[in-house]
Amino acid sequence: MSKEIAGKSGLWRSAQLSVAPMMDWTTRECRYLHRLMSKETLLYTEMVTAPALVRGGALHLLDHDPREHPVALQLGGSDPTELAEAARLGAEAGYDEINLNCGCPSDRVQSGAFGAVLMQSPELVADCMAAMAEAVDVEVTVKCRIGVDDQTPEEILPGFLEQIRAAGVSRVTIHARKAWLQGLSPKENRDVPPLDYELVHRMKAAFPDMHISINGGIATLAEAEAHLARGLDGVMIGRAAYHQPADVLCAADPRIFGSGEASDPVEVVQQMLPYIEREMQKGARLHQVTRHMLGLFAGRPGARQWRRHLSEGVSQKGAGPELVEEALGLVVARAA
Ligand SMILES: Cc1cc2nc3c(=O)[nH]c(=O)nc-3n(C[C@H](O)[C@H](O)[C@H](O)COP(=O)(O)O)c2cc1C
Repeated sequence: MSKEIAGKSGLWRSAQLSVAPMMDWTTRECRYLHRLMSKETLLYTEMVTAPALVRGGALHLLDHDPREHPVALQLGGSDPTELAEAARLGAEAGYDEINLNCGCPSDRVQSGAFGAVLMQSPELVADCMAAMAEAVDVEVTVKCRIGVDDQTPEEILPGFLEQIRAAGVSRVTIHARKAWLQGLSPKENRDVPPLDYELVHRMKAAFPDMHISINGGIATLAEAEAHLARGLDGVMIGRAAYHQPADVLCAADPRIFGSGEASDPVEVVQQMLPYIEREMQKGARLHQVTRHMLGLFAGRPGARQWRRHLSEGVSQKGAGPELVEEALGLVVARAA
């Protein structure tokens, strides 16, 4: 399926499918791997906090490979001036989009008054987004929840979207469940409370001019296609894209974007070898790259041998790309 959206940035097309921002998971090594599987899918960084960039000067957090495009930087923060500066640094570093995290319920994030707690302060979010939009030429977007704690999503979400739209945001990703700010761990907050996909579809009907992506619990391309066919503009996939990247990403280009051929996980591994070599020459540990590759053959013959060979061999002295080649040999032998 492919939808042409006239007059909008190329990212409106790319965002038909995206891989969610995930701390410690969607590192640049992971994004490089995902990009080899799909040329079109929009990729998100882990959240980078505005204070770390602006006050801490941690510009290495913006490092990425030119081959990752289209790639969006997700920021965390709640101070408009600081976010504007962080957005500027992100755009200068080459990111195609700057996204604000209004969905993450973790304690650490709450203490800095950002993440999902911002669902309670739509005016502040609007101020942040207006400041970011003013600071950069690339698109600024929001990733949010349908509400938090005792908010009634049906009541508060339209107001939230109106406010950010007035501030210059025209693309948003909605994680279709509320976040509980107290009493649930961030992990629990990804599976409970229940998902409300219908509410997100109603938001698309109410805001037809906005590009709305749905997120939460979507595990297959077939589910993604069903949401797109019903009129949503995009689907964001998190955990499934990480754990079974080949199932989600290898056929994404032909199926979601109507372009190119499905990629082959065996060829993807072969293309990773020179990258691994380069990264190790720059001082990376093998594990930094291969930990994101463990699920590559999930559900396929040889998956167990692949995972085991990589996991067991990675910490051995001198382990390098040859280990990955050997593990691939086991997969190819099982498939033959
Ligand atoms: C390990 C992990 C880290 C995450 N880190 C972030 C983050 O940095 N920013 C964010 O907006 N959401 C974060 N999330 C939430 C995901 O982006 C996504 O909204 C959530 O996992 C639901 O989508 P899914 O069911 O497809 O996984 C994280 C999720 C996981 C599993």
